[in-house]
Amino acid sequence: QPLAIKETLKIPQSFIDRCASLLDNGFYMTGSGTSYHACLSASYAVSRRLGMDTRAVLSSEFVDAVADLEGKTVVAVSQSGETADTLGAIKHAKSKGAKILGITNTLGSSLTRLSDAYLCTQSGPEIGVAATKTFITQLTALDMLALRLGLRRGALSESAYASDMSALRKLPKLVAHQLEGADRVKTLSMRYAGRKDAFFLGRGINVATAMEGALKLKEISYIHAEGYAAGESKHGPISLVEPGFLCVFIAPKDSTRGKIIGNVMEMKARGAYILSLITQGDRELEDVSDDYVEVPEVEEGIYPMLCTVPLQLFAYYIATIRGLDPDKPRNLAKSVTVL
Ligand code: G6P
Repeated sequence: QPLAIKETLKIPQSFIDRCASLLDNGFYMTGSGTSYHACLSASYAVSRRLGMDTRAVLSSEFVDAVADLEGKTVVAVSQSGETADTLGAIKHAKSKGAKILGITNTLGSSLTRLSDAYLCTQSGPEIGVAATKTFITQLTALDMLALRLGLRRGALSESAYASDMSALRKLPKLVAHQLEGADRVKTLSMRYAGRKDAFFLGRGINVATAMEGALKLKEISYIHAEGYAAGESKHGPISLVEPGFLCVFIAPKDSTRGKIIGNVMEMKARGAYILSLITQGDRELEDVSDDYVEVPEVEEGIYPMLCTVPLQLFAYYIATIRGLDPDKPRNLAKSVTVL
């Protein structure tokens, strides 16, 4: 992953700027599975950093969910560039007068052919069915795009842009460091491998991180996992919680931290077992959690990438402990070319 991110960061700024110029008049984002989670994450980043709204729409729902397409751009995210749902969404969008900016890991794919412009994440081939390094590079590329758009729109000053880019450039090292801590996640995974259910809860941009953590776990370990907005869990999901129920909180020190502690307490009060992803040295969250995994303190927008790594490792170790091949989950295909 560090190498893949490093390569993606090499995409020339001038090229990113040309892609960003397609987004000036408003845009939607679409993708399926993990790629949709990248879209959702980016939509939060765009609203927080740029004060601009965009919608992330599941590709399989796009035709029914989006009407206003004339003169807009659709950012279509697909690792393979061949997912039928995503291609269907962009064909529809094109027919209604939208432009397409493709973000893919596969040059020469149908997505690159159907797009007005495309940006290639530089992950190298990804063999395992569950997307891992391609997700992190999608987040990286989308962040680069959002920052450039922020600069174009005047939402970010030159110095804010430079400082955000320099935070992003530290990512390969930070991810490498996170991977070095894999043993801790392995030890924790041994504790949880026999579970039947888990909630993954986050707020703000980390709702998308939570959804991706849950997707990874269910895809490769076959444990029922739900990724949810932590603030929403009291409106239904909390009724499933009984003593020992595993709740994984994505709780780094960002603008949502205060509220998420409240959500941890709600779950704890019902006897849930709390595993938290926290910023290094966050004693308050350490104290209220049964277990925790630390990530270093970084700029707010970098947490989704960093928190994703332990979540991927968690799914990987649980799958292998359960005797499953994490690269070949049942019923799934790397690229789904049917609607
Ligand atoms: C399949 C895979 C998922 C992937 C999704 C989208 O369902 O099993 O892991 O996230 O397709 O793939 P794409 O190539 O469009 O990113």
